[in-house]
Amino acid sequence: MTEPAPVIAIDGPGGAGKGTASRLVAGRLGWHLLDSGALYRLVALAALRAGVPLDDPGRLAALARGLDIEFLTADDRVLLAGEDVTAAIRDEACSQAASQVAAIPAVRSALAERQRAFRRPPGLVADGRDMGTVIFPDAGLKVFLTASVEERARRRYKQLKEKGIDVSLPALSRELAERDRRDAEREVAPLRPSPDARVLDTTQMTIDAVVARILEWAATAYPAAAGTGTGGDGTRPER
Ligand code: DC
Repeated sequence: MTEPAPVIAIDGPGGAGKGTASRLVAGRLGWHLLDSGALYRLVALAALRAGVPLDDPGRLAALARGLDIEFLTADDRVLLAGEDVTAAIRDEACSQAASQVAAIPAVRSALAERQRAFRRPPGLVADGRDMGTVIFPDAGLKVFLTASVEERARRRYKQLKEKGIDVSLPALSRELAERDRRDAEREVAPLRPSPDARVLDTTQMTIDAVVARILEWAATAYPAAAGTGTGGDGTRPER
């Protein structure tokens, strides 16, 4: 049997720097990237648009199974049924709805195989909440990134401001705390570090320092992969 492709699982709460760190690590290694949160966001957006109630597991799971999704790696865009929804899946309504649909077991299992299909040579950096615990329990490196809720809210605020989206910092902080609670308390795949994950508190760290630390760990976990990357952005399989 051939060895499955290597995986680095990067989990943690929203705003801990997972997205940026995962993209940079994937780029440095020349590996594929899975943004699993985008999948939950896409299910949420499709449900909001189709008027599917967010508490109807059967219809939501069917929607998740049938989603026509495309990740465009070159310019980092996401398409839903051919339409560019890169911005739409990031707005606050969609963020809250994503957290709700992510709590539904039938939706999670509908997305599980889709996520595992991203595991292809030369390797995968998987960004999410349950990458190390549920989706890729055999990942050779599991990282759990955290940061204080205040710092995570500040980072999210800055990101949104830069995109010209007007938000209030206290409201963002409240919403993040509410999502954290829902993600941590749900019965399926609650947000918590795998017992074998390396936990990294990024509150006081720059993104470069976070990436450097993960690459150090990767060099130990997967010595053959270290230093093989292009230094560019991560690539993602199309589907
Ligand atoms: O990382 P994100 O903010 O894009 O994730 C959107 C929502 O999906 C968030 O509420 C957490 C949830 N999620 C999850 O439950 N499991 C994952 N693997 C990724 C995201």
